[in-house]
Amino acid sequence: MSKPATDPLTGSGGRRHLLSVGDLGSEGIREILRLADSFAEVNTRAIPKVPALRGRTVASLFFEDSTRTRLSFETAAKRLSADTATFSAGSSSLSKGESLRDTAQTVAAMGIDCAVVRHCSAGVAVQLSRWLDAAVINAGDGCHEHPTQALLDCYTIRQRLGDIEGRRVAIVGDIAHSRVARSLVAALQLLDAGVTLVAPATLLPPAVDAWGVGVSSRIDDVLPRVDVVYLLRLQHERQERALLPSLREFHERFGLSAERVRRLADHAIVMHPGPMNRGVEIGPEVPEMACTTVAEQVANGVSVRMAVLFWLLGAEPAAAAAADVEASPAPERASAAEVSSG
Ligand code: NCD
Repeated sequence: MSKPATDPLTGSGGRRHLLSVGDLGSEGIREILRLADSFAEVNTRAIPKVPALRGRTVASLFFEDSTRTRLSFETAAKRLSADTATFSAGSSSLSKGESLRDTAQTVAAMGIDCAVVRHCSAGVAVQLSRWLDAAVINAGDGCHEHPTQALLDCYTIRQRLGDIEGRRVAIVGDIAHSRVARSLVAALQLLDAGVTLVAPATLLPPAVDAWGVGVSSRIDDVLPRVDVVYLLRLQHERQERALLPSLREFHERFGLSAERVRRLADHAIVMHPGPMNRGVEIGPEVPEMACTTVAEQVANGVSVRMAVLFWLLGAEPAAAAAADVEASPAPERASAAEVSSG
């Protein structure tokens, strides 16, 4: 892939990675969302598969538990006809004392083109991008970033509400420990949406003043004024001490009950990255309400991750010739249309 030496997305090896939302910039985000439109069309076909990444190998290196992110990336890679390799920390030589670097290099020596990395420590994806001769995608690193979640969330907002610019988004819950919140705030700000964080002081990040967002501890005041309510689970696995008196009290003060949904504007949507804890951050019946986009977020995740994989790996001539994304008259689909084999 030929790129200018100044491309902020590339490491020293000149390879493109997806490590954080900030690296993408607003143009990068828009480009991926446009590509995702084309892959969403592929996903409606009877056989939702194109040969765009035939001969490429995408490895999932998951050092932390995951259901939807891992499955979503693997589905995306398969729909692009890439080969997939899977690594799970629990059943690997890590449990025999092997270092992260040795484990990663063992996987890389098998000849992978892309590593999708999840780890409980912030910075691991960046570190692996320096060690591996492969494109690296950060699929969640500790409390730091989860860029593809932010991309699929932006795609979903755009699909439901038409545009993102000028929208008002409330992110509610455990912001302090959430990589989803960090990536989403960065993406929304790049796309000129306004963000308000709603949480008790103990669940706000220490340097929140530098985030350039509104902050509130009163969900009932915020709900009538927003287009999107984005709920976050309490990240118990990352909390070092008890930060709340009780889950019941959290639900009463911050949980989005069905009654609180009625305070929202008619067009407003309710989002959640999953996994949900019904009865805590979200009322038990809210996931099934029409304003809730949880299932759309999961479905869009596959299209968006196809777009990311194609954006990282698909621009080389062999892949471009093999791709079969249908041409669309819409100019914004040009980048995917260009790879049509007719
Ligand atoms: C999130 C994650 O793992 O960071 N989930 C996800 O990727 N869908 C959010 C969470 O675990 O709460």
